[in-house]
Amino acid sequence: AKCCSKAVVFSVPSYACQRRTTLDNHNTILTDALSLLAEKAELSEEDGRGVAFRRAAAVLKCLPQPVTNMMQLRGLPCLGEHSFRVIKDILENGTSSEVESTQQSERYKALKVLTGIFGVGAKTADRWIRAGIHNLRQLQTSGQTLNQAQRAGLQHYDDLNLPVTKAEADAIGEIVEEAVVSVLPDAQITLIGGFRRGKLTGHDVDLLITHPDEGKEVGLMPKVVSWLQSKGFLLYQKTTINSYLESEEGPRRPSSNMDRFERCFSIFKLRHLSREDRGESESGCRLWRAVRVDLVVSPISQFAFALLGWTGSKLFERELRRWAGHEKAMSLGSHALYDNRQSRYLRATSEEEIFAHLGLEYIPPSERNA
Ligand code: CTP
Ligand code: MN
Ligand code: MN
Ligand code: MN
Repeated sequence: AKCCSKAVVFSVPSYACQRRTTLDNHNTILTDALSLLAEKAELSEEDGRGVAFRRAAAVLKCLPQPVTNMMQLRGLPCLGEHSFRVIKDILENGTSSEVESTQQSERYKALKVLTGIFGVGAKTADRWIRAGIHNLRQLQTSGQTLNQAQRAGLQHYDDLNLPVTKAEADAIGEIVEEAVVSVLPDAQITLIGGFRRGKLTGHDVDLLITHPDEGKEVGLMPKVVSWLQSKGFLLYQKTTINSYLESEEGPRRPSSNMDRFERCFSIFKLRHLSREDRGESESGCRLWRAVRVDLVVSPISQFAFALLGWTGSKLFERELRRWAGHEKAMSLGSHALYDNRQSRYLRATSEEEIFAHLGLEYIPPSERNA
């Protein structure tokens, strides 16, 4: 049937992993508003509501042009009543009253400041706010006990809330490469996370390490961390060896080689690349900055799953797992893909093969920015 509306009507598949979402977002005003409401929900531990807003924002991110008329949204998936109300408010008034009042709310501002500390999640922030702590100064004088991560987070608060550039990510990559190659010569490192998706800045640097010979990677992380520590590159680190124990999202049955998954959440001390690049004066500025870095070691047999699982975006990953479970009766994790009907693991040596197992068209990293 021909549509009688003058407005362009969009058509979008319902799972984000079926869509191509580049960084070229034509609806940033709408998606920023919905993302803020998602964040507010997540900070209030209303995860279901948070996901609903993330899904709504993701649908708008993949549209080929700006939405100007509510009629254009007819038939689009994932847009609930609440999201419609927010979009309508913005299209009619130029701004969302709910977003405005959230931004002005003392509770939201306090949650943002406190969860901006590395190592502080929504639960801790809420507990502190109930104890009357709304900012960093109040936290510092409160006598609250901070764990090691939180102390490091507070100490490097400003740096860690400053975006990391691609040039800084590459510089971190080179340092980690030197560390890795000096303890295990043929090991390979890959930039993952947002930078692999083509983002120009990020909140951290994510790196995946593997070795072409299965088993050679075992025990690599502690050696890499020791090397980095001995050279003074680490301001903080926490290394985990058996990560499957704490992840609720992996395949139901852990395979024996899942025990090998090693990762490290760290804060690097990075020498400034060049003062001119950063527009700083010669005098009175520090020679280094703190940067959050996540390192993951994967055996080569799980490399494709680790690569897919750590490239993101977070919503894209969530949607891939939902697609696998709901549409294909499969369990997808960062280690493996399990077919519940065949009662077996499906092997893959590339991301392309994983998409094929899942019956999905291949989406390259630059189009996973849902
Ligand atoms: N991830 C994960 N387990 C964690 C943290 C992150 O599996 N404990 C995965 C996320 O699902 C995501 C990827 O690692 O796919 C990168 O996460 P993160 O660094 O938080 O996000 P980015 O997309 O890299 O965004 P940013 O640029 O803000 O860092
Ligand atoms: Mn475009
Ligand atoms: Mn990242
Ligand atoms: Mn990360």
